[in-house]
Amino acid sequence: MFIKPDSDLDLQLRQTVLFLNHFDDLSFLESFQMSGTSTGKKAVLTLNEQQIELPIYSGTLGPNVIDVKDILANDHFTFDPGFMATAACESKITFIDGDKGVLLHRGYPIAQLAGESDYLEVCYLLLNGELPTAEQKAEFVALVTNHTMVHDQLRKFFDGFRRDAHPMAVMCGVVGALSAFYHDALDVNNVDHRNITAIRLVAKIPTIAAMCYKYSVGQPFMYPRNDLDYAENFLYMMFAVPADVDYKVNPILAKAMDRIFTLHADHEQNASTSTVRMAGSTGANPYACIAAGIAALWGPAHGGANEAVLEMLDEIGTVENVPAFMEKVKTKEVKLMGFGHRVYKNFDPRAKVMKETCDEVLAALGISDPQLELAMKLEEIALNDPYFVDRKLYPNVDFYSGIILKAIGIPTSMFTVIFALARTVGWISHWLEMHSTAYKIGRPRQLYTGSVQRDFTPVDKR
Ligand code: CMC
Repeated sequence: MFIKPDSDLDLQLRQTVLFLNHFDDLSFLESFQMSGTSTGKKAVLTLNEQQIELPIYSGTLGPNVIDVKDILANDHFTFDPGFMATAACESKITFIDGDKGVLLHRGYPIAQLAGESDYLEVCYLLLNGELPTAEQKAEFVALVTNHTMVHDQLRKFFDGFRRDAHPMAVMCGVVGALSAFYHDALDVNNVDHRNITAIRLVAKIPTIAAMCYKYSVGQPFMYPRNDLDYAENFLYMMFAVPADVDYKVNPILAKAMDRIFTLHADHEQNASTSTVRMAGSTGANPYACIAAGIAALWGPAHGGANEAVLEMLDEIGTVENVPAFMEKVKTKEVKLMGFGHRVYKNFDPRAKVMKETCDEVLAALGISDPQLELAMKLEEIALNDPYFVDRKLYPNVDFYSGIILKAIGIPTSMFTVIFALARTVGWISHWLEMHSTAYKIGRPRQLYTGSVQRDFTPVDKR
């Protein structure tokens, strides 16, 4: 393999190319082949007294899907706001069984990955499809570690933001700005360029996330350190300052951080991942696509929920106020943040691991957090109250992550940034998967309910 960079400005790409040209085994980033199987069965739809046969396909796990394309030829669309029942793509990356509370990455249960693996190994798995051997893992870790620095000109983008800008606003803008650094020399139709992009993103996103924090508190940016592992390096860039040359990362916190990254690495076709696929389907620059994913993640119904959970706990204040708050939830004045999920109608398996991690971290640090007690009380009521039981509302990953992040010392405004950091590998894995297969531009249709055609009247005659 040989990749020729064509931009003199693109130092990082040249370094990457030099490295990759000596890196023979890039099989961990090879193309994916799509293979939904026809069941031979057909769904029959009767429309205007005509019968339309719609093919049914099966995957390896999960419900079958009905191919509805032929409805178009009969002058109808399907209507499914919020994509409640619509599969928009085939994918081999992640599987969720929401009724059973199962989450598999490339077939491996999330609890096993979180307990026995680490984040970069999960990154390799998501990108490649298989777990690495020890040698492959060492090469992958070295590759990522060697690309953690960002172009020095990227620092200047931060100065354009107000001091009090929300770190997610800064993250969204700065990751989008990466597209300006990697555009002319990046061909999305070139598999090697796509693979380099994936490595760059996984490597640089913690650096950018930590810079967002440092900018918000007015401290100097810390350069990444190659002698630290992924999570340690992130905590170092977050909390070290140049004046404290002896700064040491607490290994308990680094382990918890790595676990949090692992639990957020991918989650199938959620709102942000679908956004990245949608943006990517136009052939757009991948860094701009990831910025679009970050924007979609920010909302409180999605990744912004972790920040919203802590705000909610602050608002409730003490355990005595819980019943009154729950009444407001049931009358739909407010939502119980960190509860409910579009897909999980059972315990979110990530929340189970997150709760165990939460207990471990608080015990190891000797913290007894009254907010954990409050969260436990909310959970106890919710799991027994018919409002939540009938609607199958269980705690999701964000219910506990905020409490651990707080124990680690991460400010609330950075919670969703950390989610975005960890999810970047999932987004880019889906982007790679899409680009390695035949795909169509994402273009939903609509049920039009506006005016019928009418004649324009000039303003002086209205
Ligand atoms: N608190 C109170 N009621 C709720 C909640 C909640 N957190 N979530 C859903 N409901 C009710 C909802 O009002 C509706 O009631 P009804 O049938 O009477 O109209 C019913 O449950 C079904 O909810 P829905 O809004 O139709 O479900 P959805 O699939 O469209 O929304 C959700 C899923 C995650 C957006 C929603 O549950 C929610 O807003 N939860 C709180 C925010 C949150 O924690 N988000 C993090 C999701 S996990 C992290 C991630 O991967 O993004």
